Amino acid sequence: MRQYDLDQLVDRKGTFSSKWEFMPGDDQSALPLWVADMDFPCADPIIDALHKRIDRKIFGYTVYNNPTYKEAVTGWYKRRHGWDVKAEDIFFSPGVVPAICYLIQALSEEGDGIVIQRPVYYPFTNSILGNGRKVVNNPLIYRDGRYTMDYEDLDKKLADPGVKGMILCSPHNPVGRVWTLDELKKVVEIAKKYDKWIISDEIHFDLVREGVTHIPLLKACPEYKDRIIVCTAPSKTFNLAGMQLSNIVIENPEYQEKWLHTIGDKNSVGFANPFGITAMIAAYNESEDWLNQVNAYIDGNIAFCKEFVAERLPKATMVDCEGTYLVWLDLREYCKDKEELEEMMLRRAKVALDEGYMFGEEGIGFERINVACPRSIVKECMERMAQVLEGK
Ligand SMILES: Cc1ncc(COP(=O)(O)O)c(C=O)c1O
Repeated sequence: MRQYDLDQLVDRKGTFSSKWEFMPGDDQSALPLWVADMDFPCADPIIDALHKRIDRKIFGYTVYNNPTYKEAVTGWYKRRHGWDVKAEDIFFSPGVVPAICYLIQALSEEGDGIVIQRPVYYPFTNSILGNGRKVVNNPLIYRDGRYTMDYEDLDKKLADPGVKGMILCSPHNPVGRVWTLDELKKVVEIAKKYDKWIISDEIHFDLVREGVTHIPLLKACPEYKDRIIVCTAPSKTFNLAGMQLSNIVIENPEYQEKWLHTIGDKNSVGFANPFGITAMIAAYNESEDWLNQVNAYIDGNIAFCKEFVAERLPKATMVDCEGTYLVWLDLREYCKDKEELEEMMLRRAKVALDEGYMFGEEGIGFERINVACPRSIVKECMERMAQVLEGK
């Protein structure tokens, strides 16, 4: 088995990296642990496959709909998640957020309500509002450092005839929950009661912590398959976000038709990036050992943060991370004011993080820290934070 050196520091400046060169604020000298991509080099098979593809020298219009592509995806779902998906139920999208926008267009009308569970990945809000729909919030419950769902409130929100469905974040960004079978079943039970669809954003599905199992919603609740759409991608898993490729599982033939009409006729999306396809096939077919090592390394980074917080930031609470590579840190005992906290992090500690308030007002006083990077960067970030928050 290949051993990857995940401690190595790779210079990303000069590659148009969003994380390193287009940071929030006007000062680009902060240490960036914000946007969700990794500072780890990609798996060797991906790099080799891309070199070979470049040697073919022509990069014309490229079609995803072929058996090699589909088998790579279905094989991954089956091996990694024990999930059987038919090739014809997989649809390409240039990203999960674009897919959510297309699905909103396909499955609802202007003015309709769509439920999300804040604090949650903020592009959900933008996609709903940007398409003229209404955000209906079903806030998560935060108790004793752990997040759960408020089913009673969800029932009330989905009962509203003006609400057409919900976007589930599974695993949940930023709170790091990997929903259990019981939790998923309860959500579906409520959605079923009112015949509402669920878009399940499972982009973080391969990034789970040791001992935790992610369950795809369609696998958990096959009886509701006609109202569930699952969004997946190799992008978070294999650090390929710039390749712009994701796979959307739609089983209901009526929804498939709506999808094709929306992406094709309305938005003229169809061809995929040739590098994205090449990278995804090499990732899914040959790079599992890389992912196992990356997940173990992230486990180590999270354990480091936990220890650091306990010893050096005693007033902070680090929420248990079951999935994703994002640490969600409750700093309200240090600072409850969102502008002041942002100023403390970005200007004084000089760390660029995702500010909790961006995920909804439930996130005020929290910081989201992306720990998919060499441990030395995580340590430096925590040291800088401790110096500002604790003065040591
Ligand atoms: C929950 C979630 N969905 C979607 C995305 C982005 O997906 P894409 O880049 O494929 O649009 C992210 C990226 O951080 C995410 O965390």
